[in-house]
Amino acid sequence: IFDVKGGEDEGVEWIGKEIVIRGWVRTCRVQSSVTFIEVNDGSCLSNMQCVMSSDAEGYSEVEIADITTGASVLVEGIVVSSQGAKQKVELKVARLNVIGKSDPLAYPIQKKRASREFLRTTAHLRPRTNTFGAVTRVRNALAYATHKFFQENGFVWISSPIITASDCEGAGEQFCVTTLLSKTGDGTECSVSSIPTSVDGTIDWSQDFFGKPAFLTVSGQLNAESYATALSDVYTFGPTFRAENSNTSRHLAEFWMIEPELAFADLNDDMACATAYLQYVVNYVLQNCKEDMEFFDAWIEKGIINRLTDVVEKDFVQLTYSDAVEILCRAKKKFEFPVKWGLDLQSEHERYITEEVYAGQPVIIRDYPKEIKAFYMRLNDDGKTVAAMDLLVPHVGELIGGSQREERLELLESRLDELKLNKDSYWWYLDLRRFGSVPHAGFGLGFERLVQFATGMDNIRDAIPFPRTPGSAEF
Ligand code: 4AD
Ligand code: MG
Repeated sequence: IFDVKGGEDEGVEWIGKEIVIRGWVRTCRVQSSVTFIEVNDGSCLSNMQCVMSSDAEGYSEVEIADITTGASVLVEGIVVSSQGAKQKVELKVARLNVIGKSDPLAYPIQKKRASREFLRTTAHLRPRTNTFGAVTRVRNALAYATHKFFQENGFVWISSPIITASDCEGAGEQFCVTTLLSKTGDGTECSVSSIPTSVDGTIDWSQDFFGKPAFLTVSGQLNAESYATALSDVYTFGPTFRAENSNTSRHLAEFWMIEPELAFADLNDDMACATAYLQYVVNYVLQNCKEDMEFFDAWIEKGIINRLTDVVEKDFVQLTYSDAVEILCRAKKKFEFPVKWGLDLQSEHERYITEEVYAGQPVIIRDYPKEIKAFYMRLNDDGKTVAAMDLLVPHVGELIGGSQREERLELLESRLDELKLNKDSYWWYLDLRRFGSVPHAGFGLGFERLVQFATGMDNIRDAIPFPRTPGSAEF
């Protein structure tokens, strides 16, 4: 369906043309001699208003009662200019086939707006709503723009593994991989009744990945570093997993991450890349998803277009962690969590800085105390902080986390020792420092948080088609 509302000339260039459309009925209004049917095929927000008069060629063949909300239809007709105030053109129906019926009483997506909570219980049908159609198209545009940005800047896309033995963040938030083997395999017998059974009704089960421990990846960074120290600038874009049992509006157990890794680069290069990337993708959706962005501005977050335009046009704020702590200590506001040099910033602190101190502009905080950051971050000359950066935005909080990596072998080894991490399991990662080590840096951006940021959706569960959170993996 071409864009009959938000399009350049709202479909008028199609007037007089015979067309066929296929889609799903949003509403059907039957009047004495004409029937108005709104059809949507997901290609844009607009519905095509199809007008079928009782003297249309194929009218007698149509069971009007079957044209119900949710039914799929094929409609043939001619585009004419519309008398209606809502659109410039409509489809004068010559023939209409109901392809798949939909029982109007049982169909869960009713005309009146359903709550987000309810729609999460109908995740298989929620893409048929305006909101989820728009979120899905903007998510798609952000993914496309991501590849476009990195490809145009000479980065090579790397598929990092989903199953891995390494814990990139060293935080122990990994899901364990287990293997289900048939009786003929060499696993031990399983007595857990909820495990699916094989053809002969029995299951053998071993608690690992073919005899070795393995986990779902929390980040592709370590693998990206291996390729960056061979192909120069690279990036990953794939699913990552965190077994943190947090029920918040910005955490998922399964989320997509974009992780560029820049060779021969320091923290300043990393921050410049993060800024250019974010401005590029935000500008891309403003330019290419106009109708959907106007919908978000009207229904989801008032002023989002202006907010995002500022992101594209204005510089981002940069602060050191020490500056941020000072700002928070001077704040009149009472925080629930204490603020003190050495403690991690909580979301209330991040919110205060981005929303109240800097009124909505992204803020990059750098040079965090080494104790609150991951083992691989490069130690600064002060011996107390590391070359880390977090990019914070209003509503979402931390959108990006990145750092310059410790490229000096001895320092990296002693950091692993300090944190009591098993050096042997990082042998290959240490090799990157043994053979042709270079200064390098990178960051990770949580893709669903970017979708939230660009659409104004409050809850991260509504920024991914099928959210995985504690207790929810139904669809
Ligand atoms: O800050 P994080 O944990 O950093 C890393 O994983 C690094 N290895 C990235 C790198 O330098 N290559 O995660 C990066 C980003 C966060 O800023 C956040 O946007 C997102 O990933 N993120 C989550 N998004 C949704 N649900 C979760 N549970 C998330 N945990 C992190
Ligand atoms: Mg982080």
